[in-house]
Amino acid sequence: MSWLIATAHAGSTITLPLGSTEAYRVDILHDFLWGVSIVLLLGTTIGMLHFVRKYHQSQKGRETAYILGNHTLEFIWTIIPLILMLFIFGWGYKDYMAMRKQKNADIEIGVTGVQWRWDFQYSNGRKTLNELYVPRGKNVKLLMTSQDVLHSFYLPYMRIKQDVVPGMYTYLNFTPTDVSNQPVYCAEFCGTSHSDMLAKVIVLEPKEFDTWMVTGKVSGVAKSSPGGVEPPAKPLAEVGRDLYSAKGCFACHAVDGTKKIGPALNGIFGHEVEFADGSKTVVDENYIRRSILEPQAQLVKGYPPSMPTFKGLLSEEEIAAMVAFIKAQK
Ligand code: CUA
Repeated sequence: MSWLIATAHAGSTITLPLGSTEAYRVDILHDFLWGVSIVLLLGTTIGMLHFVRKYHQSQKGRETAYILGNHTLEFIWTIIPLILMLFIFGWGYKDYMAMRKQKNADIEIGVTGVQWRWDFQYSNGRKTLNELYVPRGKNVKLLMTSQDVLHSFYLPYMRIKQDVVPGMYTYLNFTPTDVSNQPVYCAEFCGTSHSDMLAKVIVLEPKEFDTWMVTGKVSGVAKSSPGGVEPPAKPLAEVGRDLYSAKGCFACHAVDGTKKIGPALNGIFGHEVEFADGSKTVVDENYIRRSILEPQAQLVKGYPPSMPTFKGLLSEEEIAAMVAFIKAQK
């Protein structure tokens, strides 16, 4: 089985290249399933051929035994596959949960699916179109949404895929293992040009990535295509601060922990918050998004329902900037 992984790693055309630590996890389980399948296939086929020969009509002189059943055998052929299946389930579950777990990301990138392209947004304000730049060996978190319909962000070399859904955020975590150029597909039919909704992941050495973040230029293997890279604007969190200011949010929300008409915006991200009805949740991107668009939906305990909705007044990009600002207020 390890030869399979080794060949894949060498860029063999038989299997997909491995692009992330997640890909190794998926492939090892995949190879195990193949191995078990081959052993079972050989076992049943060889057994069958043996009995076909042994009990063939031409083997005269024996009477067929009259067998009513065998509890021991039935128990064995039930319990062995059961253990095997539960083992495979447990293995898959463990890997899946490890891949879905929200880790402390080294870098976070915004992804927006649009009919029919992918927009990427970096914390320093840099934006790219259909080109996702990531540093090798770092834990990357994608914060994803859609501007119109369902799309699915699919990175085959990383072995990860996640739907992007209008009106909410979804997440992906991965750690790229090699400097490479990898394809991105949309894996959910989303209209006429669905099959053209292609992008690239460009994995750079961390140093080169840092340079790219500042200058938008890379040397060596991966090159940015013309028009793919725009000059960086303001950092995302600062764009968010301007928006809070422009929309008058600071009249009711402090950022130094003071209790005003509304709760303070600092130190809430990743922490638990209690609502008027006694329920609780941990503040994440989706919670902040909902609080801006549907302020009465989850009212924080001890505050009046006086905030107006901002539904229809903010673009996805603006909401993302406002979320980034709150995350930056420790
Ligand atoms: Cu977007 Cu298919």
